[in-house]
Amino acid sequence: MDAKRQEMLTRVGSGTPMGELLRRYWMPVAASCEVKTQSSRRVRLLCEDLVLYRDTAGRPALIEEKCPHRRASLAFGCIDGEGIRCPYHGWKFDGAGTCLETPAEPEGSTLHQRVKATTYPVEELGGLILAYLGPPPAPLLPRYDLFVWEGVLRDVGVAELPCNWLQIMENSVDPSHLEWLHGHHLAYMREKQGQPAPTHYRKKQIKHGFDLFEHGIIKRRVVEGGSEQDDDWQIGHPLVFPIMLRVGSHGQHRFQIRVPVDDTHTRHYWYACYRPAAGSKVPIQEEIPVYEVPWQDDQGEFLLDFVDGQDIMAWVSQGPIADRTREMLGSSDQGLAVYRKLLVDQMELVRNGGDPLGVIRDPNQNQIIELPQEREKYGQGASFLAESMEMGHARYSPIKHIVRDILTAK
Ligand code: FES
Ligand SMILES: [Fe+2]
Repeated sequence: MDAKRQEMLTRVGSGTPMGELLRRYWMPVAASCEVKTQSSRRVRLLCEDLVLYRDTAGRPALIEEKCPHRRASLAFGCIDGEGIRCPYHGWKFDGAGTCLETPAEPEGSTLHQRVKATTYPVEELGGLILAYLGPPPAPLLPRYDLFVWEGVLRDVGVAELPCNWLQIMENSVDPSHLEWLHGHHLAYMREKQGQPAPTHYRKKQIKHGFDLFEHGIIKRRVVEGGSEQDDDWQIGHPLVFPIMLRVGSHGQHRFQIRVPVDDTHTRHYWYACYRPAAGSKVPIQEEIPVYEVPWQDDQGEFLLDFVDGQDIMAWVSQGPIADRTREMLGSSDQGLAVYRKLLVDQMELVRNGGDPLGVIRDPNQNQIIELPQEREKYGQGASFLAESMEMGHARYSPIKHIVRDILTAK
């Protein structure tokens, strides 16, 4: 790949081709429980510095960080009724960016009428707060199944990673890494620690398929000892365009959401949904918990004894922006070619004024979006459940014991 194409595929700032494509999609900015009523937090998204807050009525809002007056940070502002007030001279803005007051100006001043702060629409769904940074009118926030299913438990893992979003997404169309990184390398690391080596992912992968569908790319595979009759090939699981992966089996379902913070940082969410067999009751969750997924030890070394830590090592060790001018692709990289072409095609579509893949404006198509996902994965059976939770990010979940009890209840 030449340097120009790499720039086009990776850069996410406003006005760049990829930045413009990605701005057509709603993206998570926080878990709902991370922003309490009358509090605020800084958020960086697509190279833009913003402040997310909840007003006195609990409504979330997203505003540019720098005050339009003289650029002080609204992150230190006071939440005041239906808006936020700058700490420096008290200018007050509502959720739409309208300037309501400029208290240091003389009585009768009309200055506030000529001032507007940049704000973006935010909505809450399934325990997340999501924002839309693109041109109006905003499309509908997609009601993906995991966000809206009832009778389930959910949690949200999060990690801030120092690398570009694209190398993380490319990992999602790279099925051969499962056999090597999570199969052989995990066994190698565990053996070095004197622990039993897991064998689950070591099965040789015989065949891969990548099919475009209305929400992205469906990935299929056949593993050694299996056939095209298996769920792995018949159903597969999707890359949900442009920044999500859907995975899971046996009652565990999750989105891995790769939110581009800027060109060299990505906020990674593991949005999990645990769904027991029909008829089983789950406790009501007052709040969907959020937890941090650690990936470095006290010395700053990668944590390599769990699946997601291994993935993070691969992504981060590729560099802040993986240098694709020096890559040497093989036939096992077929999925990358499909995904990159899709990105290029969709950037072109946006440039020509169209709505890209997966953007929804018809409420009838947005009641619930059920996505395909294998029920039975790798022929491993339900007994794999408990072990797989310990092998991945879920080992840090504050509700993992409840989840395990519910999913394994007879
Ligand atoms: S800098 Fe915000 S009110 Fe002056
Ligand atoms: Fe992986």
